[in-house]
Amino acid sequence: MTTHDVRSFAAPLRAPTDTLSGANNAPVAPSTPMPAAKPSDPNFSSGPCTKFPGWSVDHLVNAAIGRSHRAKEPKAKLKAVIDRSKAMLGLPEDWLLGIVPGSDTGAVEMAMWSMLGARPVTILEWESFSKDWATDAIKQLKLQDAQVKKAGYGDLPDLASVDPAHDIVFPFNGTTSGVRVPHMDWVSDDREGIVICDATSAAFAMDMDFRKLDVVTWSWQKVLGSEAAHGMLALSPRAVARLEGFEPDRALPKLFRMTKAGKINAGIFEGATINTPSMLAVEDVLAALDWADSIGGGAALIARADANFAALDTWVQKTAWIDWLAADPATRSTTSMCLKIVDPAFRQLQADEQAAFCKALVKLVESEGAGFDFNGYRDAPAGLRIWGGATVETSNIQALIPWLEWAFATQSSLTFSLKDTAA
Ligand SMILES: Cc1ncc(COP(=O)(O)O)c(C=O)c1O
Repeated sequence: MTTHDVRSFAAPLRAPTDTLSGANNAPVAPSTPMPAAKPSDPNFSSGPCTKFPGWSVDHLVNAAIGRSHRAKEPKAKLKAVIDRSKAMLGLPEDWLLGIVPGSDTGAVEMAMWSMLGARPVTILEWESFSKDWATDAIKQLKLQDAQVKKAGYGDLPDLASVDPAHDIVFPFNGTTSGVRVPHMDWVSDDREGIVICDATSAAFAMDMDFRKLDVVTWSWQKVLGSEAAHGMLALSPRAVARLEGFEPDRALPKLFRMTKAGKINAGIFEGATINTPSMLAVEDVLAALDWADSIGGGAALIARADANFAALDTWVQKTAWIDWLAADPATRSTTSMCLKIVDPAFRQLQADEQAAFCKALVKLVESEGAGFDFNGYRDAPAGLRIWGGATVETSNIQALIPWLEWAFATQSSLTFSLKDTAA
């Protein structure tokens, strides 16, 4: 895409920089020069996330492709993903972990369809994916006793008001708003319900207190930067007890069935997947786990996300035009780092103009190959979302920042000088 095309996203539209002129026909030059250095890896998408440093297709040469996934060696690879993920996350010994179909969505919905309805449930909704889980509970499952506690983008619902007798469904990190739960003190240790946690943009990047959780889900495409094919579903003994003691009065597709004759299907949690997995994706996640081990394991992954957050935060704190979308600093995500533009002129724009501005800003950087896929989520307020999970190098966050400065200055000069002219 050319620079000219990029600017056609701007609201209002302007000519490319070299032909720009202000109200008095004087050239309008962006106040910030284009940076010289680019991030060595310009991928900042919140999913699929960038590959680990040094990744290449060579890591896939030993994939068990063309073999039955039920054969000894391929099955051992599936089991290795389970065992190594469990160890790296520090999942309790008595938990089960399985590879399931449908990426993280598959894992969450498998749990919801199989377990909910036994008691009242609270769904915590504060961004797009948690909204999907609320829709599932209310409109699809039609649960009679379901409560949705909502907050807008940037905030959390009142966690302290969650009824401890309820089942709970919530995202540990709201990927589309960059708001995470700051702690799990709001869940009781001796709860009666089960806690279903969508941890897809938290697992491997954030400390999680598994004693407070019963179902934890994620996909390989997020913090590990692997492929999106499969979901991971971790179950506490209480979750297993729910599966074995409760038969929901609804049809369950084969893909969701985790029990056989009232007993947990243990094979799923030992690598005997419900249906056929991609052994290429399996090899890729094993490579990501190798890389994670090579840098120090789970603690090192968390430290890398923390360092990425710190690098961006240092800039945000000293930059007048940008701020975190998450209002409370304790809730700011270290993976899906969502920012809002607080420049007074930007705030005067209509919502659609703000969205066009952000889209154009991102396209400016993309057109120079300096950073990709960091526009805010389509349903979130206009802003930027920069992935800071473990596969991202802090040096690349630092290298992106001057590009953000440049693109903001450039896009501002395009948007606001024309507004002045129109006035
Ligand atoms: C919080 C959350 N839940 C669910 C999903 C859906 O994940 P997948 O596409 O891997 O099913 C995403 C994807 O970004 C997410 O961020």
